Amino acid sequence: MKLFAILFTCLLTYAPLAAAQQGPIVIRFSHVVAADTPKGKAAVRFQQLAEQATNGRVRVQIYPNSQLYRDREELEALQLGAVEMIAPSLSKFGPLDAREFEVFDLPFLFPDEAALHRITNGPIGAGMLQRLRLKGVIGLAFWDNGFKSFSANRPLLAPTDMAGLRMRIQPSRVLDAQMRALGAQPMAMRFGEVYAALEAGVVDGTENPHSNFYTQNLQNVQSHLTVSNHGYLGYVVIVNRKFWEGLPSDIRQALEAAMREATLYAGSIAQEENERALEAIRASGETQVHVLTEAELKEWKSALAPVSVEMADHIGAQLISDIRQAIEAP
Ligand code: LMR
Repeated sequence: MKLFAILFTCLLTYAPLAAAQQGPIVIRFSHVVAADTPKGKAAVRFQQLAEQATNGRVRVQIYPNSQLYRDREELEALQLGAVEMIAPSLSKFGPLDAREFEVFDLPFLFPDEAALHRITNGPIGAGMLQRLRLKGVIGLAFWDNGFKSFSANRPLLAPTDMAGLRMRIQPSRVLDAQMRALGAQPMAMRFGEVYAALEAGVVDGTENPHSNFYTQNLQNVQSHLTVSNHGYLGYVVIVNRKFWEGLPSDIRQALEAAMREATLYAGSIAQEENERALEAIRASGETQVHVLTEAELKEWKSALAPVSVEMADHIGAQLISDIRQAIEAP
């Protein structure tokens, strides 16, 4: 009788655990942009690859458009284990005290995507991901979006055209310095609030790659856009470290392989997505697009040159110089 009681108690105690272990492992992947963007599409590709590779032992649930959490909240949610995976932009790592990622915000640091990939796919990028472990998260990969354009409700041909404009930025000290160098007033704001803030006139302008601009319908609230390619916006996919290290190792390896493939996919579509979005912005007839001439570009570069000096202590002078060297190396 006593034995029966013990067995019964064990059954009650362990039954829920056993049931939980039998169900699939769920990865909640939260992000703030539209599904129809480089990040949104790469998330779906990861979902397909991960579920296939694990024969359904892993389920990936994607929550786009800040449905679940907004910018900073999703980082907190990840740390608390309320979501398992997020992909914040490189400008949003301040709360983790990983401000070296703001190096990607430096104006005109990367001449093109090839130079950027030399960093994100090379030893410097690997070192940056590795250092995230100290912050309790695992950096799995860099995902591409693209170079940014400025927009406002007036033509932005010369840097002086930015004077006095209230410009929405992501929460990065480097972006703050960038806008101040142009005589504008930076206002850090969540991504999901940008449209309403522009519509209400709380801010006058913003900056983003074209895919983000178009999928947020900013053409309705911005009459001018200048293709300036002044800075880069990309992501790091991060996971909660405890969750990741607690996964069975065969599952973790399958997910790492799925992530590698999803990363290649993100890299293969991002540029085209942004080009297509620019065409769609033009075709909307609502936003006038200006592409900077070489002479105009020179003016913007010289206006923004002081930012990297000013931000050297904040980011780390060594990292900036390592990146410059790696870009220039033959
Ligand atoms: C922004 O806030 O402008 C971007 O970080 C949004 C994103 O995730 O691309």
